[in-house]
Amino acid sequence: MSGFSTDWLTLREPYDLRARNAMVLDAVAAHLDPNFSVQVVDLACGTGSTARALGPHLPVRQNWRLIDNDLSLLARARATPAPKDTVTNLIPLDINRDLEAALDGAVDLVATSALLDLVSESWLDRLAVEIVARGVPLYAALSYDGRTKLTPSDPFDAEIAAAVNNHQRTDKGFGPALGPAAAAFAIARFEALGYSVVHGTSDWMMGPDDFEIQTEILAGWASAAHDMGALSQADTTAWLTRRRDCIAAGSFSLSVGHVDFFAMPSATR
Ligand SMILES: C[S@@+](CC[C@H](N)C(=O)[O-])C[C@H]1O[C@@H](n2cnc3c(N)ncnc32)[C@H](O)[C@@H]1O
Repeated sequence: MSGFSTDWLTLREPYDLRARNAMVLDAVAAHLDPNFSVQVVDLACGTGSTARALGPHLPVRQNWRLIDNDLSLLARARATPAPKDTVTNLIPLDINRDLEAALDGAVDLVATSALLDLVSESWLDRLAVEIVARGVPLYAALSYDGRTKLTPSDPFDAEIAAAVNNHQRTDKGFGPALGPAAAAFAIARFEALGYSVVHGTSDWMMGPDDFEIQTEILAGWASAAHDMGALSQADTTAWLTRRRDCIAAGSFSLSVGHVDFFAMPSATR
């Protein structure tokens, strides 16, 4: 178990799909020859949402290696039928320990979503070096970047957001996480290694109808704030109660900042 439940990944998938940056997806599509089949490695695939979102932008014939260390998420990915002309192989692997093995073999594109904010600077550096050494491109979507907007606002929002961002930097199994700094760090690293990078925002936008995911996110934030000792338990509970009341009244909206990027070998490299 990774701590990411099938229910949570299923709940967020339509918001992720809507948020994915179209310019970045276009850059991926433009980079690959539609007449050839494409071999894709999805790092930390979860239930396979990256393949479902990116597949329609790729050449028709696709071979995906879906990699995750959570067997229950891989089982859900296996249960989802693949489109015609798409072959899917599910690979249980710890990408912290065995990143190089995950990337070995024929690869035209490395993909990942909602992973980079969990990893450490040294792991991300290792990923960049391994990808550049193989001369393959990377599509990395939905890295949380620390921006949040809650409407209407509440006096405790800023403290909660700061606590969430501090919690994002705690160890998620890869060493101290980059959290909100991950995408900017990765983009700078790939550019320093001679890659061209197309990037843009992919923010979650949620309105009054999105009560289920808003409730889930805010409960997670309250829990993170509690773990970080940011506010007293009473203040955190009062904040969450006020926010739930707004959600129940249909008067709440939320945006959560993310970044997508596509890093590709430069023609002049
Ligand atoms: C936020 S989820 C994202 C899942 C999927 N990419 C998506 O966008 O829905 C993070 C994923 O990283 C996986 N993960 C975390 N640590 C891992 C590790 N050391 N090796 C392989 N997968 C890992 C989790 O199991 C989980 O599926």
